[in-house]
Amino acid sequence: MKSIILNSGQEMPVLGLGTWQLNGPKCTEIVKEALEMGYRHIDTADAYENQQDIAPALRASGIDRNELFITSKVNRLDLHYDDFLKKTDKILNELEIEYLDLLLIHWPNKDIPIEETLKAMAELKVRGKVKNLGVSNFTESHLEKVLDLYPGLISVNQVEFHPYLYQKALLDYCQKNDIVLTAYSPLARGMVFEDNRIKELAEEYGHTPAQLVLKWLVEKGIVVIPKAGSTAHLKDNLEVLNMDLPASALELLDTFNENRRLIAPSFHEFW
Ligand SMILES: NC(=O)c1ccc[n+]([C@@H]2O[C@H](COP(=O)([O-])OP(=O)(O)OC[C@H]3O[C@@H](n4cnc5c(N)ncnc54)[C@H](OP(=O)(O)O)[C@@H]3O)[C@@H](O)[C@H]2O)c1
Repeated sequence: MKSIILNSGQEMPVLGLGTWQLNGPKCTEIVKEALEMGYRHIDTADAYENQQDIAPALRASGIDRNELFITSKVNRLDLHYDDFLKKTDKILNELEIEYLDLLLIHWPNKDIPIEETLKAMAELKVRGKVKNLGVSNFTESHLEKVLDLYPGLISVNQVEFHPYLYQKALLDYCQKNDIVLTAYSPLARGMVFEDNRIKELAEEYGHTPAQLVLKWLVEKGIVVIPKAGSTAHLKDNLEVLNMDLPASALELLDTFNENRRLIAPSFHEFW
C-alpha cells in the first residue's frame, strides 16, 4: 500500500476506507472485504458508533497489527483532559486494539481550552496508546495555536476536501508545517458522479469519475478516505494506487472550486 511519511517518521497509507454511516454486520462485512482486497487503513470515530463492528473484521483478517493503520476521533464535547483520556480507552476497548495509529480531535471546541486536550494527547503518546496525533476540521488559526503550544505534536489535519471545496491555502499551510492533510468526503458525497465535466474527463482517460477525483487528490500529497459500501466501489477506489496518470491531466479539476462546504454542523468554527 502506497504511503506517506508522517512527521513522526511513521507511514500512513494514502488510501483509507471511510466508515461514516457504515454500521452493524454490513460494516463488519465491508471492512473485512476491504482488508482482504488490500486496504490497510481504516477511518472511524467515536461518533460513528461502529467501532464494535470494525473490531471483528480486524480480528478475522489475521493481518499483523503493525501492518494496519487505524484512525479514530474524540468528540468535541469530550476534550477536557480527563474526558479525553477516558474516551480514548473506550475507543481502544471497542476496537479491541492496544493502540491507535492516529487519534484526532474530531471538531474544535472554543469552549474547552485546547491546552487541556493537547496535554492529554501528548500523554497518550508517551503511554503508547497512540502512535500519531492529529486534528480534524481545524482552520489555519486553530492550527497556529496548536503549533505554537506543542510544536511537532500533531501530524494530520482531516478536513473536507474535494473539487468543489479546493482548500488550497489550507493545504499549503499544512504542507509548509509538516502536517499531512487528509481529505474527507473526497467524492463530495457522490456529487462528483453528477458532474459531466468529470465524467467526460474520466472517460477520456479510461477511468471512473471516482478514480479521477481520488487521483487528483493523491497527486497533491493528500491522503484520501472515501467511504465505499460495495465490492465494486472498494475495488474501483483501490485501483487508484496503480493508476498512471500525470498530474497535468488533472489540472482542469483545479478550476472547479466553489468554496462549497457539504459538512457544516451548527457548532462548526470555520469562520
Ligand atoms: N472528520 C470529519 O468530520 C468527517 C466528516 C465526514 C466524513 N469523514 C470521513 O470521511 C469518509 C468519507 O466521506 P463521506 O462518507 O462523507 O463521503 P465520500 O467518501 O465523498 O462519498 C461516499 C459516497 O460515494 C459513493 N462511492 C464511493 N466510491 C465510489 C465509486 N468508486 N463509484 C461510485 N460511487 C462511489 C458511496 O457509495 P456506496 O456507499 O454505495 O459505495 C457513497 O455514496 C467518511 O466515511 C468518514 O470516515 C470525516
